[in-house]
Amino acid sequence: MTRANARLAAERAPKPVRDGVGGQGVLVLGTVQLGVPYGVANRVGQPGPAAAEAILAEAARLGVTHLDTARAYGTSERCIGRAAPRGMRVVTKVAPLEPGETDAARAVRESVERSRAELGAHGERLAALLLHRMADAREGAWDVLRDHRDAGIAERIGVSVQNPAELLAALRLPGIGYVQLPFNLLDRRWLDPAVTGALAARPDLVVTVRSVYLQGLLLAGRDVKWPGVPDPDRDALVAAIDALVRDLGRTGRADLCTAFALSHPWVTSIVAGAETAAQVRDTAAATARPPLTDAERGEVLARLPAGPADLVDPSRWRTR
Ligand SMILES: NC(=O)c1ccc[n+]([C@@H]2O[C@H](COP(=O)([O-])OP(=O)(O)OC[C@H]3O[C@@H](n4cnc5c(N)ncnc54)[C@H](OP(=O)(O)O)[C@@H]3O)[C@@H](O)[C@H]2O)c1
Repeated sequence: MTRANARLAAERAPKPVRDGVGGQGVLVLGTVQLGVPYGVANRVGQPGPAAAEAILAEAARLGVTHLDTARAYGTSERCIGRAAPRGMRVVTKVAPLEPGETDAARAVRESVERSRAELGAHGERLAALLLHRMADAREGAWDVLRDHRDAGIAERIGVSVQNPAELLAALRLPGIGYVQLPFNLLDRRWLDPAVTGALAARPDLVVTVRSVYLQGLLLAGRDVKWPGVPDPDRDALVAAIDALVRDLGRTGRADLCTAFALSHPWVTSIVAGAETAAQVRDTAAATARPPLTDAERGEVLARLPAGPADLVDPSRWRTR
């Protein structure tokens, strides 16, 4: 792409916010950062109560409608219950079942009760209720989620998955309406035609992608160690990302990361976390810009190699 074309691309009008089903905008605020000290690129630790409130208020001010949390995210649900502006909708996840749990249905019911108690008014009608682990979709647990949807406690039910095999299994669950999966510009696992075909066949589904910045690592670039990647390989990847930012007329790495994710027709929205209000502003500005065109996405795929499995799947990082 010439520089003139890049400038034109940069000046295209921002696309209208996609009305993700249920009025969910393209940006969902991730809130694990509000509940635990978290993230390889996190330099400030867990925000205190005032800072957490400022993050939530800034997100609402910028038009973010939905918050992503989980029973497993420490005090995140309590923080939302206390400080999230009225009207923000919540997606939460059931506490992972303990190994050897014999009454999965009871454990799921108790987890949802605790979540709703912590969330207060925000828990009255959840935008979505997800299993945090696909392995937990067993022995009555899924039926409990269906009961909650039928009772109007959750608008949609679904699963947060880790890999394509889990996604394909989740799509077979009766009544599933929401999936969350990890995806970023070095992660090619989801581009297999078997996966994209299965998602294309389900336009009714909300598909939210997390880890678009790989917990901030893709933005921090050379400033942090990359799990499973020697420093010289990391430096070459960062140089290639920065060259794409320049050549495609993007405003920075965050803009490239979000524009890549949102250019996929099966992606409804991204969930991105922040430990400062400034980071919320960065991501909101990035997601307000147009996604990559098909040709631009092709360029990213051609110029960036697939990241190793140990890098693109944070659940495999030894630092966690
Ligand atoms: N300008 C900037 O520098 C700037 C701007 C915006 C963001 N950021 C950085 O980017 C980060 C967000 O990155 P992101 O959006 O790619 O990631 P993210 O969405 O915040 O997190 C990705 C996922 O990691 C998982 N996770 C949960 N608990 C965890 C734990 N204790 N340790 C590690 N992972 C855990 C969660 O998924 P599961 O529940 O499925 O495990 C979470 O949804 C921010 O925290 C910030 O540091 C920087």
